[in-house]
Amino acid sequence: MARVPPGERVKVWDGAVRLVHWGIVAAFAVLWWSSGERRMDIHLPAGYVMATLVLFRIVWGIVGSDTARFSRFVRGPAAVLGYARTFLKPRGALWVGHNPLGALSVVALLGLLLAQVALGLVSVDTDAIESGPLAHLVSFETGRQAARMHGLVFDLLQIVAGLHVLAVLYYLIVKRIDLIGPMVTGFRRLPAGNRRPVRMVSPWIALALFVLVAAAVWLLVTHPPR
Ligand code: HEM
Repeated sequence: MARVPPGERVKVWDGAVRLVHWGIVAAFAVLWWSSGERRMDIHLPAGYVMATLVLFRIVWGIVGSDTARFSRFVRGPAAVLGYARTFLKPRGALWVGHNPLGALSVVALLGLLLAQVALGLVSVDTDAIESGPLAHLVSFETGRQAARMHGLVFDLLQIVAGLHVLAVLYYLIVKRIDLIGPMVTGFRRLPAGNRRPVRMVSPWIALALFVLVAAAVWLLVTHPPR
């Protein structure tokens, strides 16, 4: 995204990005709790919600608002290294949308969440009673392997999500840049002028796409291919 020097209140995140973010946080917490408690009656539906949120976010990353698009915030190694050098500086540059380093954590989190959902769909537990809705498509051994990987990816997710929250807190406490407020309100204070306008796509398009993705996930888990 365009690099800008700090005045004017600018909308940087659309409602879809914000709702999906906090939805992912809530679903992640429910999935974590329900796996620990072995509450598969809650774990599976929460997994379908997570699948819908992550798949929608990926679609929105292709057709959504400027700051949501992968093509706008995923940058090459040079930009990431250039930004990383400013990471420890007191305030550093201000960005509209994700900075090049933050973009890496976004891609890692979404990628791991997608892998986690896919593994969960085909996972088989030891007695094959509490299995994912697509477990019948793979052998028992592959389903067990998927279940082990499901546990491993969850460990990785805890590490990456933990680093993500620590980075956000580092920005807030050390660099005195509040990233959390904008992820709640959508607005951020930025220097006037000297930036490209942020194009927002209609929330109705987001809602239509979300309903389509939710319907596809619902169909997949209620009428799985035989
Ligand atoms: C309560 C803890 C959390 C806080 C305060 C928080 C805060 C934030 C903030 C401020 C951003 C925007 C960063 C930026 O300006 O570039 C962000 C982005 C993101 N966070 Fe979190 N986060 C939390 C937990 C999580 C968890 C647990 C996950 C996933 C497991 C997660 C996944 C993401 C993703 C995927 C994005 C990219 C958003 C997008 O572009 O759609 N976050 N988070």
